[in-house]
Amino acid sequence: MSNAAQLYPQHLAELQRRTADALARGGFDHLVVPSGTLHYQAFDDRDYPYAVNPQFKAWLPLTRTPGSWLVITPGQKPKLIFLQPFDYWHVVPSAPSGYWVEHFDIVVIRQPEEALQHLPGVARSAVLGEVQSALKDYAPNNPPAVVNYLEYHRGYKTPYEIAMMREATRIGVRAHRAAERAFRAGASEFGIHLVYCQAAGQDANDLPYSNIIALNEHGAVLHYTDRDRVPPKHLHSFLIDAGASHHGYASDITRTYAFDAGSEFQAMVDAVDAAQQTMCDQVRASTDYKQIHLDAHLALAGILKDFGVIKVSPEAALATGVSSAFFPHGIGHGIGLQVHDVAGFAASDAGGTIAKPDGHPYLRLTRVLEPGMVVTIEPGLYFIDMLLDEVKKNGYADSVDWARVDAFKPFGGIRIEDDVACTEAAPINLTREGFAAAA
Ligand code: GLY
Ligand code: MN
Ligand code: MN
Repeated sequence: MSNAAQLYPQHLAELQRRTADALARGGFDHLVVPSGTLHYQAFDDRDYPYAVNPQFKAWLPLTRTPGSWLVITPGQKPKLIFLQPFDYWHVVPSAPSGYWVEHFDIVVIRQPEEALQHLPGVARSAVLGEVQSALKDYAPNNPPAVVNYLEYHRGYKTPYEIAMMREATRIGVRAHRAAERAFRAGASEFGIHLVYCQAAGQDANDLPYSNIIALNEHGAVLHYTDRDRVPPKHLHSFLIDAGASHHGYASDITRTYAFDAGSEFQAMVDAVDAAQQTMCDQVRASTDYKQIHLDAHLALAGILKDFGVIKVSPEAALATGVSSAFFPHGIGHGIGLQVHDVAGFAASDAGGTIAKPDGHPYLRLTRVLEPGMVVTIEPGLYFIDMLLDEVKKNGYADSVDWARVDAFKPFGGIRIEDDVACTEAAPINLTREGFAAAA
């Protein structure tokens, strides 16, 4: 039996347990989840890449079956209403198969509207989905009590989910290694992107987010998704933030390379890498994720000080916002079915919000870590004109050695990102494990 087949029944039992609680909270008898529908471009008959409803793919590894529905009723076998249209224009989803099939009652329908005759009464159902999934009066109601409960608990991954994320990591690591080779061989950003997709066996329809493939100063654009077709004349650096999917689960991996292994930039990459591993070790039960973020500012400012980029103490850099000019994003986020997993700020499974620390608007996770959570740890240092101008405007120009900034600008920036699982004991770094296994 495969690993997935062995682990899946426990995953399903856990989802059923959570669902029974969630329905009780909201006063419903059934959970109903449409897989979602295709979306069309304005004034055009072309559809966007289909993105399955995450509440649907939480239950089973079907990511390309629009128009299908799940019905979960506590105490009963889950039901899958599976749309398999008669259609010679498109590939029709093949008949369900795999380790999960025996756990469902499956009804095949040929037209989307046929689902209606198999769905429970809408008044007693929590229907979780997007508005476009409505069939006549049968429309998603997304009751907050049910959504909040399920999304909060989705933060705790089952062993099955960790196994899926390990596989998503294995695929991503393989593609990262191919991309690094392409960079060293002088490929363009577009060329490296194609090499990555080829090695992963995935493209925009599958990848959990758009690849960030940045050469030289493009590394300073946090979400750089342009891809130059021509390589730069002089290669300095390569920042790649790219993941992969497996059965609906994501990996999210960033690496930064200097073209010249003996350069000062490579030394700075190594320093960020060492600091990042210390941060990953903080992914432990009862640690407040906000604290990891604030500690990261001090560690990164310490690196800037060591390399002569700033002239003030790390504490002063944090207090004055100077560290934020070089590290302007959060230390990471939860990850799982979605690359930026839901409920990052959830105070409890009944709702409520845990605020971000003042002055840190881009942090995406403020919860206290507990076993089962999987988070990214992605410190970065960048040389971004717009933010450095703010430092000057705010009166802190003397905190920075601008000649050192100019020396590093052609390299763009550094980010190192791993996906790390919190356990009862030491953290499991899925990404480092993946690179070690591929070495
Ligand atoms: N790839 C987007 C992120 O790292 O959050
Ligand atoms: Mn990330
Ligand atoms: Mn990333």
